[in-house]
Order: sequence, then structure tokens, then C-alpha cells
Amino acid sequence: MNKHVVLLPGDGIGKEVMESARLVLEAVAERNGHHFTFEEKLIGGAAIDEMGDPLPRETVEAAEKADAVLLGAVGGPSWDHLPGSGRPEQGLLGIRKQLGLFANLRPVKGFRQLLHASPLKKEVVEGSDLLIVRELTGGLYFGEPQERSEDGEGVVDTLSYSRKEIERIVEQGFESARKRRKQLTSVDKANVLESSRMWREIVEEKRADYPDVKVDHMLVDAAAMKLVTDPTYFDVVVTENMFGDILSDEASVLTGSLGLLPSASLREDGTGLYEPVHGSAPDIAGEDKANPLAMILSAAMMLKHSFHMEKEAEHVEKAVQEVLDAGYHTADLSVVNGTELGCTDLTRKVIEQITSEDTTV
Ligand code: NAD
Ligand code: IPM
Ligand code: MN
Repeated sequence: MNKHVVLLPGDGIGKEVMESARLVLEAVAERNGHHFTFEEKLIGGAAIDEMGDPLPRETVEAAEKADAVLLGAVGGPSWDHLPGSGRPEQGLLGIRKQLGLFANLRPVKGFRQLLHASPLKKEVVEGSDLLIVRELTGGLYFGEPQERSEDGEGVVDTLSYSRKEIERIVEQGFESARKRRKQLTSVDKANVLESSRMWREIVEEKRADYPDVKVDHMLVDAAAMKLVTDPTYFDVVVTENMFGDILSDEASVLTGSLGLLPSASLREDGTGLYEPVHGSAPDIAGEDKANPLAMILSAAMMLKHSFHMEKEAEHVEKAVQEVLDAGYHTADLSVVNGTELGCTDLTRKVIEQITSEDTTV
């Protein structure tokens, strides 16, 4: 198959892990007789530095035409002084909005060989396997107004949703649950927020269409606690943009590192952009220390969701698992008796697994 992929490395470790994903995809193409073409575009701080805009028009246009998009990460201290609308993060928010990427799927599944890498007790973490379905183009991130008052003495952010925006993400939550263990937890703050009360009503309306899915509602503060005390309770969690952002970094603790969590950001027609959950990690950027697995696993999600290459996606996941089984890991993971490698060398190990003849899928 021929596929055209737009790469948006962005900033900091985004650049390093994107190189890993590209090399892995080349190995997948080579082994399976596919032909992937890659086109790199600027986003975030890199785009501000070169073009004065965190989201140049040509980046959006290339992304629109691509079969799929991979994004590394944006942001960093050199751009933190910029006003809100000129920050690197606006590039990421802008592309999500402009491409209509309303559904962000964030799977959280621990690798069995990393059970001890979590600071949580092994018996708490064992068996956890959940999916956070995060609304991505509405809520607090996008509501208007979002501004300081003229006298500088007040400030407002707005949490707004249309019925349609809530309906489509709730439907996505039900559909995802249907493909998994059929248990949907809707997370909100309905004891305080009107937007959450409408969210809850819509979940109640939709459940009639999905009689096979078991549904419950949980307040976000309680959900944050349950995620680390009883994570196996959860199958699919569907939630508002900012709640999903916060809960997914928290959930990464179950796996041992934020550097392991991939995600898919999907449009209504199912096409998508694939991005790790983590950021540009300025504290380790440029040191070849980044864990490339979140980005590599995001590329695997692209193979599955956008290209319907199930076998190839599983092959990448299996290669990652075998590398971890052999004890190889980056510095973010504390593994007893493991072998610590840099980003480049760990990527090389994954590629060796993919190209080795005896890898069975
Ligand atoms: P971060 O996710 O970049 O880093 C948090 C911590 O996790 C750091 O200690 C970092 O070293 C570590 N970490 C993250 N990914 C890692 C990986 N792959 N391998 C090893 N360690 C990893 O979050 P932050 O420090 O709060 O934010 C830094 C910048 O990134 C900010 O500008 C923020 O806006 C941006 N950010 C961007 C995205 C994105 O582009 N999707 C996501 C989150 C944060
Ligand atoms: C993420 C990030 C982004 C978000 C930031 C960088 C805008 O934290 O992808 O999780 O909050 O959505
Ligand atoms: Mn985040």
C-alpha cells in the first residue's frame, strides 16, 4: 500500500521521538512491501522561530491532504514568555480544531514486564487496561471569552459545549466500550458545573442505544483517586477536554512512565493525527534520553486506525514488548536488572525486532 504521512516533530524531544517513529515505519514498510512517503512540516516553537506563527497555513494544508499525521510535541521554556495566542501550544490546539480532531483516544495498558516500574503497588496495577476517551476540541480550552478584564483586575476562561459536541464524544465512548469490555464510566463534575449536568443527561439519553454497555457516572475528583487505588475498575472513561488531559497523565503512572502512552486524535470521518500523551520534556531534550515508545506506539495506532494495517500494528506492538521483555529501557523507567539505553539505541532494538526473521505475529 502507498501512504503519505505528514510528520510534525515540533519541539524538544518531539524531534527525537519523531525520528524514531519514522525509522520504525520505514522498517514496517520494508518488511511488508508498503511504500510510505513522509513530508515534514513545522509546528509549535519551531514554527514560531522560522515563520513567526505556531501553526503556518502550509502545515494545516499538508495535514489536510495527508493519509495521516504524526505529531511529536510542542512547547518549551524559550517560548513561555509569549502571550497566550502566540505560544507553541496554540499550534497544537489550532491543528486539533482546524482538522476537527474531536476524539482523543488514550489507551493505558501496563506491560507485564514493567509491573515493578510503577510506584504503585504491583497488586494494584496488575491487570489494569483502560481507555480514556477525551473530548479534544471544546470545553475549557476553547470557550470564549478567554481573557483579562480591561483593568487587569479580573480574568475569565469559559467552559462551553454544544449538545452536538457532547453527543459525538459520548457516542465515541459507547462505541469504544462496545469494542472492549463494555463498561463505560462517564467522568464529570455534575455536582458543580452546568456543562457536566448536560453531559450526564446526554449520557443517560444515549445509553438506550447501547443496551449492551454498562454505564456509570463518576465525579472527576473521585475518579482521580480511584484511578490509582482501583485502576482495574475502569474499562472506557469518557470525559471533557481538561479532565481527560489531567487524568491521562495521572493514569500514565500505572504503566511506569508518561513516555509509554500513545494516542489517536480522530475526526468524525475516522481519519486522524497520532501523538504521544507526553510533552516536549525540556528537562531532557537534546540528550538522547527520551523514551521513544509512546511515539512508536502512536505510529502503531496510525497503522491500525488510519491504514487498517492490523497485522503491522500488532507487529510493532509485539516488537516493543519483546524489547522490554529483554530488559531494555530508557532512563524514565526504573527497571530492576534492566539495561538502560538512549532513545536512538532503544529505537534500534525495536527495529531489529521488526526486521528479524523469527518475529512471529
Ligand atoms: P512533559 O510531558 O513534557 O514532561 C513531564 C515529565 O515527564 C518530565 O520530567 C519529562 O522529562 C518526562 N517525560 C515526558 N515524556 C517523556 C519521554 N518520552 N521520555 C522520558 N521522559 C519523559 O510535560 P511538562 O514538562 O509539563 O511540559 C513541557 C512542555 O511540553 C510545555 O511547554 C508543555 O506545554 C508542553 N506539552 C506539550 C504536549 C504536546 O505537544 N502534546 C503535551 C504536554 C506538554
Ligand atoms: C496534551 C497536552 C496539551 C493539552 C497542551 C500542550 C496544549 O498537555 O496533549 O495532553 O493540554 O491538550
Ligand atoms: Mn497533557
